[in-house]
Amino acid sequence: MYIKHFAPDKESVVLDPFGGSGVTAIEAVVLGRRAIHVDINPLANFICQQIAIAPVDLNALRKEFATIEESCRPYIDRLYASSGEKFARETAGAWYPRGLALPKNADARVIEELFTPRQLRALSRLNEQIGAIRDGVIRDLLRFTFSATLNKCNLTYSTTKGRSEGRGNSGIMHTYRYWLPKHPVELNVWNEFSNKFKNLITVKKETNQAIGENYQRLKVMHASATELSSVIERESVDYIFTDPPYGSHIAYLDLSTMWNAWLGFDVKLEDKQAEVIEGGDLEKSRDEYANLLESSLREMYRVLKWNGWVSIVFAHKDLSYWNVLIAAAQDAGLEYANTVVQESYQSSRHKRANPLSVLSGELILNLQKKRQPRRLEFDRGDGEASEILAGQVRALVCETEEGMTTEDIYNQLIPRVLERGLMNALQKTRLSELDEVLRDNFFFDDASARWYASKTMAKQGRKILALKKAKGQLALDLAREDE
Ligand SMILES: C[S@@+](CC[C@H](N)C(=O)[O-])C[C@H]1O[C@@H](n2cnc3c(N)ncnc32)[C@H](O)[C@@H]1O
Repeated sequence: MYIKHFAPDKESVVLDPFGGSGVTAIEAVVLGRRAIHVDINPLANFICQQIAIAPVDLNALRKEFATIEESCRPYIDRLYASSGEKFARETAGAWYPRGLALPKNADARVIEELFTPRQLRALSRLNEQIGAIRDGVIRDLLRFTFSATLNKCNLTYSTTKGRSEGRGNSGIMHTYRYWLPKHPVELNVWNEFSNKFKNLITVKKETNQAIGENYQRLKVMHASATELSSVIERESVDYIFTDPPYGSHIAYLDLSTMWNAWLGFDVKLEDKQAEVIEGGDLEKSRDEYANLLESSLREMYRVLKWNGWVSIVFAHKDLSYWNVLIAAAQDAGLEYANTVVQESYQSSRHKRANPLSVLSGELILNLQKKRQPRRLEFDRGDGEASEILAGQVRALVCETEEGMTTEDIYNQLIPRVLERGLMNALQKTRLSELDEVLRDNFFFDDASARWYASKTMAKQGRKILALKKAKGQLALDLAREDE
């Protein structure tokens, strides 16, 4: 929706400088636009490329898979036919990442400690056979399948009681570090690889259709968002849609260590230094995060055409991060247009990473590169932060008769605070302090799970909600009758 609106011309160049797995770039090429995907993490770039690549010869892909099956499956099945304990760690001659350190907060020291000897043998055989495939495109697609196989085939994988073996989770995905559970579950590496291959075929059928020759319009670059103008021509981009890291939530490069190592991607210290995060192995401070984010905004400005737009997905509950973001955007020369609440966009992952500080609906900030940009004033609002906050919430809650959920209040409060120049007055306030302000000043109605200005308002609100619900049901019933 955003791309169609802000980059209406088919020849438009759409850039995502914090590209991740490639949602923006892939959507742009699906829509026939030109796309540039930039990420500092080689794994992210590899994933984006492999998801997007098209058209792919599915018969040739299936044929290579069958060859791999022939050379690996009997060997791997034999490994899993006997008890895992009998395998010694020494796996003579087999290649696997050796001696490479994991991040400091991991439960293991080096990558190989994340695997049983049997997993190492099976993965190593599979990796070796894939490496021998001659066709580069197919080899990479099967390396991609292999990297997805790693997600569950390591010692961070476990299941909760009562769940089937295959339906568990890797500790990495829910703790955002290399966490080793007490009772890991070991899946047959071949079966997992073969499941992932089925998924790949489904994806490639889709991308053959939806992307096809438009794949030529995608450029994937390993670079830092803080140095865009050294790899992208100045004033050449029509639209930027991006989802930058929110402070310390996920240390992507640290977390990708295992995958990058198996795939043979080298991550340099300078990449880690350029990564826009707080914390991580390099223990970056909030100021360092702010400076890096600021440089990336300056660089976005440089590569953007005049009057081009930037949309930034951001969901932090802490207003000081918003201050950093908006101040940096304005200092870079971008003009603030508005902030829009987006309910579903990728909310679950960030929310899971840090439920207390990430909003579940994400906010999208729209900015424009103008010749004479107006600046938002930040310095209005005198008095106690909690009073200012209560006043703003009151205005919001009183605007609607139906009451508001806590999430609605969070989401609408941020644009309101920004646009009314209250950023400075509230910048030290964590929006989670809002909970206190809400409890002290408003009435929470359990039945509708909404906040109201008073108990009487809640009664009224419940009636309106019930009426609306009934109307909705009526409309549904009528539609069914029509069918
Ligand atoms: C929130 S994620 C982006 C999620 C993305 N929208 C997606 O579809 O997966 C942030 C991304 O920024 C990347 N990143 C962090 N610092 C960077 C930098 N200096 N330059 C480029 N990418 C960077 C991370 O590697 C990560 O992939």
